[in-house]
Amino acid sequence: MSHAHAHTGAPGPLTNAAATPPVLVTGDDAVAAMKASVTRYGFGELPRSLHGDVLAGLRAEAETQFGGAVHAESGDEAPLRYRARVAGLGDYALSLLKGPEMTALLEGVFGQRFTLSENISCYTFYNSDDHLGAHQDSPAEQCQVTIIVYLHATSPDRDAPDTGLVLNVYGEEPESVGHARLRIPTVAGSLVLGAGSRFWHERPRLKPGETVTAITGCYRRPD
Ligand SMILES: [Fe+2]
Repeated sequence: MSHAHAHTGAPGPLTNAAATPPVLVTGDDAVAAMKASVTRYGFGELPRSLHGDVLAGLRAEAETQFGGAVHAESGDEAPLRYRARVAGLGDYALSLLKGPEMTALLEGVFGQRFTLSENISCYTFYNSDDHLGAHQDSPAEQCQVTIIVYLHATSPDRDAPDTGLVLNVYGEEPESVGHARLRIPTVAGSLVLGAGSRFWHERPRLKPGETVTAITGCYRRPD
């Protein structure tokens, strides 16, 4: 995976302490608001919280990884309908998701430590018509809580009522699907955190001209 660092201009690995910027640029108030949202709705966000250098590094790695992305699409009759392109994470994203800031953030919100499930964490690339139907993250043991990092989010009209640049969050019961309790806007540089294995959630179909690039990190309780 060392090819992920071949980009010139991208920051070095996060394990290099001397060159490591903070991952998040956000205040205690924002963290408290996010925690309150997670407690109430199962999901919360830290708007535009990613350090600019880290966002640039992740975007560079996503571009590299996109070369190996595969198209993922459900059948018409599948219970979970989805369409997107997905790619494995490189060293940069992995070190960020496993690093001390994310570990501390999860522990602060959920009151316990979590371990990244690397094999089911990924980059996801959405274009117009792509979507991810209502679901709970699974397998639940491997994906008890989720961190989503948005790298790109473009739209000709992000305020349109049917924009795909939103994460709809429902309740814990399947009957709650379709009546969003929370709508989190998809904004580059924002971070979303949630109990995705318990609370149903959904990305609606992206409109023409819309794109989203995101990292999904799945976490489990330590072995
Ligand atoms: Fe999910």
